[in-house]
Amino acid sequence: MLKMNNISKLYQTEMVQTHALRDFNLHVEEGEFIAVTGPSGSGKTTFLNIAGMLEPFSSGQYLLDGIDVGKLNDNQRADVRNQKIGFIFQGFNLIPDLNLYENIEVPLRYRGIKANERKRRIEQCLEQVGLASRAKHLPQQLSGGQQQRVAIARALAGKPRFLLADEPTGNLDSLMARQVMELLEQINRDGATIIMVTHDPELARRAPRNIQVVDGQLADFTLYQGAQTLKNVAGV
Ligand SMILES: Nc1ncnc2c1ncn2[C@@H]1O[C@H](COP(=O)(O)OP(=O)(O)OP(=O)(O)O)[C@@H](O)[C@H]1O
Ligand SMILES: [Mg+2]
Repeated sequence: MLKMNNISKLYQTEMVQTHALRDFNLHVEEGEFIAVTGPSGSGKTTFLNIAGMLEPFSSGQYLLDGIDVGKLNDNQRADVRNQKIGFIFQGFNLIPDLNLYENIEVPLRYRGIKANERKRRIEQCLEQVGLASRAKHLPQQLSGGQQQRVAIARALAGKPRFLLADEPTGNLDSLMARQVMELLEQINRDGATIIMVTHDPELARRAPRNIQVVDGQLADFTLYQGAQTLKNVAGV
């Protein structure tokens, strides 16, 4: 589904050059659930933003469902992103003066989905995350965990085959974090491929595949029949 071959990302500011990713290699199969861990500043968000086509990369090749992302223009990239990808941002990114229903509706409007279909999807997604009775609430009237679930509902409403989540449990206590994890596991069982960045080792261990980003490079720790194997250290 996703193939990154020698992806590098260089940030150039006046003072410094940062290699946020270097020779990053990753293959993801359809239906996988991958947890991404690694030190702060190691390149996890950069990787996720490139995977979600929110950011360009400097060199290398990125294939999504066989589409060569580097060869697309802005409009084509936006189309592919809308069709295939859902994004759960760190810190929710909810619009404070829109209620839950309207928050979920924004990206659907943007995609030109008709009103009755929007309503059907929004109600279904709110139901799925257990917030059907709160559609008229504003984000500030909800707990952190509930807001996180709205952010998940918003990503789900687009029916993405590929879900990217940056610290989806970052602001939650451990009980709520487990609930969000269970929701993601359900979405994965329903068919979505998921990549989740997390600082929580307990949640990472629950994912069938763990990768670690260290200094812009990838170490892939995948559990095969209980044995932890160092599978794919970039550059080896
Ligand atoms: N827009 C930018 N301009 C310049 N440098 C950047 C930019 N965005 C990220 N970087 C740098 O790229 C590196 C990787 O950043 P990134 O946000 O991917 O790290 P991260 O692994 O997500 O860290 P955290 O766990 O703290 O969220 C860091 O050194 C960061 O300072
Ligand atoms: Mg980050």
